Amino acid sequence: MIPLHRKALACAAALVLATFTAAAVEQPARADVALDYNKKLASGINLGNALEAPKEGDWGVVLQPEYFPLIKAAGFSHVRVPVSWSTHSALTAPYTIDPSFFERIDWVIKQSRSNGLKVVLNMHHYEEFEADPMAHSERFVRMWQQIAEHFRSANNDLSFEFYNEPAKNIDAAKWNAIFAQTLKIVRASNPHRFIVVGPVNWNSIDQLDTLDLPDDKHLIVTVHYYSPQQFTHQGASWMGAESRKWLGTKWTGSAPEISQMTADFDKAGQWGELHHRPMYLGEFGAYEKADMDSRVLWTKAVRAQAKQHNFSDAYWEFCSGFGAYDPVSKHWREPLLDALKVSAK
Ligand code: BGC
Repeated sequence: MIPLHRKALACAAALVLATFTAAAVEQPARADVALDYNKKLASGINLGNALEAPKEGDWGVVLQPEYFPLIKAAGFSHVRVPVSWSTHSALTAPYTIDPSFFERIDWVIKQSRSNGLKVVLNMHHYEEFEADPMAHSERFVRMWQQIAEHFRSANNDLSFEFYNEPAKNIDAAKWNAIFAQTLKIVRASNPHRFIVVGPVNWNSIDQLDTLDLPDDKHLIVTVHYYSPQQFTHQGASWMGAESRKWLGTKWTGSAPEISQMTADFDKAGQWGELHHRPMYLGEFGAYEKADMDSRVLWTKAVRAQAKQHNFSDAYWEFCSGFGAYDPVSKHWREPLLDALKVSAK
């Protein structure tokens, strides 16, 4: 699933407010159109552990038609759909994506749309690309070319996110170059599609300054938030044995906890303001091994920060290990859902 210690670096790095000078910053054209769209994106939920598994169902989640009306009725405005395209595409040029997989994604988009939910469609877990980005960049771009052409007629309820949490060997210079190249190809068929892009190091706030974005008005910038990791990822097997030592970590909303969280979001918010980019908190959540009271407090506090800074957001995730919904009892975990609703006001 997730490489060992995948978020360790992101959280270990010190979060220090950057000092910006007007002269040092290139001012892009105001992206008002994207700011407006971001307001409509509002608050969503990730359909995690389904289509970003090598095959849907491998990680225990197969999307069901009833999920979409449930999500809408709970008050969410969009779904973020993580997708493992690389395990459904040919390994050699032209890297054809399996038509039956496209049909499945079409179904997800249709279900979302008919229930009034916008969709952020991404690429997730292309592990060979993370290990050797330059060797896989052509396949990466060509997959996006096919996805873009396939959805060229879709209305703007659909947005694309080229890659979830660029990390490992995808450094900032490589990511900026590959992003720009992919954008150019995608813009040929989708001139006005909203595109979500986040910085390296697993979309961490402290790497926002390394993003070098083209002057394109239809971009939305994303960050993920799982801090403190010892709390949100306690007992998470994909974090390695160390995460077992974190079991029992609570989050109480103490003054130091709140002030750290506030500093993190202020930093991201200031970056967005300065660069005139709308901000999307595309993932945040605490794993089921943490106690529910702490999860609720943390979720509420993060959601409140997102709203205060005018970020759109998407909780990680719907019905798996972080799930706000219990697929066995077929009920929402009310305290979590409530935390997501209450702080949305
Ligand atoms: C990963 C998930 C993981 C989550 C929390 C996501 O980006 O794709 O597999 O559970 O982050 O670590």
